[in-house]
Amino acid sequence: MATVGKVITCKAAVAWEPGKPLCIEEVEVAPPKAHEVRIKVVATGVCHTDWEYLFETGKGMKFRPFPLVLGHEAAGIVESTGPEVTRFSPGDKVIPLFLPYCGECERCLSPKTNHCKKNWTNMQAGVLADGTSRISCKGQQVYQFLGVSSFSQYTVVPDTSVAKIRSDAPLDKVCLLGCGVSTGYGAAINAGKVEKDSSCAVFGLGAVGLAAVMGCKVAMARRIIGVDINPNKFEKARQFGATDCINPRDYSKPIQEVVVEKTGGGVDYGLECVGSPAIMVGASFEIWHTLYNVFLVNLDLISFLLMGRTLKGTYFGGWKSVKDVPKLVDDYMNRKLKLDEFITEKLPLVQINKAFGLLKSGKSIRTVISLQDS
Ligand SMILES: NC(=O)c1ccc[n+]([C@@H]2O[C@H](COP(=O)([O-])OP(=O)(O)OC[C@H]3O[C@@H](n4cnc5c(N)ncnc54)[C@H](O)[C@@H]3O)[C@@H](O)[C@H]2O)c1
Ligand SMILES: [Zn+2]
Ligand SMILES: [Zn+2]
Repeated sequence: MATVGKVITCKAAVAWEPGKPLCIEEVEVAPPKAHEVRIKVVATGVCHTDWEYLFETGKGMKFRPFPLVLGHEAAGIVESTGPEVTRFSPGDKVIPLFLPYCGECERCLSPKTNHCKKNWTNMQAGVLADGTSRISCKGQQVYQFLGVSSFSQYTVVPDTSVAKIRSDAPLDKVCLLGCGVSTGYGAAINAGKVEKDSSCAVFGLGAVGLAAVMGCKVAMARRIIGVDINPNKFEKARQFGATDCINPRDYSKPIQEVVVEKTGGGVDYGLECVGSPAIMVGASFEIWHTLYNVFLVNLDLISFLLMGRTLKGTYFGGWKSVKDVPKLVDDYMNRKLKLDEFITEKLPLVQINKAFGLLKSGKSIRTVISLQDS
């Protein structure tokens, strides 16, 4: 390919500073170094986390350096590979991943966690293994979001942060497996280990929440209660398997009390998919079905734990990224897993700020950005 070994000039949406809309700029993407892969990004979803890092930096979120190229839910094609890359070749269809899987570290070898340590520190700092980013704009280094940066027509990622997927997978759909859908689905299947005939409540019915509903349904939960302050999400939630949908704004009492009443004591699993610590406590403790429900209001967190409740977090739904994402792609191709239903809009890169607007106004579930269309 004519571009191999050369700097590629292409378009990217650059976040110059927190709290400001993204700017479409011409950027330079350097060739991949050792153990790196340069990817032509074909499609990327726009996740709540992208919005959060831009507009809520410093507000409970770790500070990320700017300028930055956001985007971490993508699919593309390998353009070229750096030295010592053995698993990828130009033309391979891939999903870049914000969570690495080296397959060698103690965490990759443990079935208890998916937190691979490879490149973790540098990726959190917005750079690759050598301490620099491969993207620059107007002579300035542009940091890479979680080591991915898919709001760019080309990007370079470590070879331990790329899943090779089957060649017949539609990239404009399977990009969603790079974050939101895998996270929510895995939250139910892997982290929650939702069981047959159980009852569940899912808080927040965005892409992550709907995927959690889908996971509960696949696990054959008997009752799946969807909770959202935006009732426009309910129709879709039912389509995904929710048996009841409730809006906290329709009640004067706390929503966890409503769930406890509706279920005659509480649910087996509460899945928090909003991103709110307050809801997390409510979802995890206050609606869980035990004899102690009547005392809930007066108990603190430690007491809930003492009474046998479990609070579990999940990063990327507990999946071992590189290893499991190709299997999720198979599940989609075999119609076990929905993806098309999450996509409410398709826009070109130049309209990326519109995608943020749709997400925040609650009008979209996922907007997929086509990187190569102008
Ligand atoms: N742990 C991970 O690996 C991981 C991965 C992806 C996303 N996330 C996080 O998951 C969260 C959801 O992401 P998303 O892309 O689905 O977001 P989204 O904005 O599409 O969906 C959030 C939903 O929550 C609803 N909501 C807001 N406040 C509510 C409340 N008080 N009660 C009930 N519902 C409420 C909104 O109406 C919306 O439908 C975000 O915080 C995101 O950062 C975590
Ligand atoms: Zn995400
Ligand atoms: Zn590892």
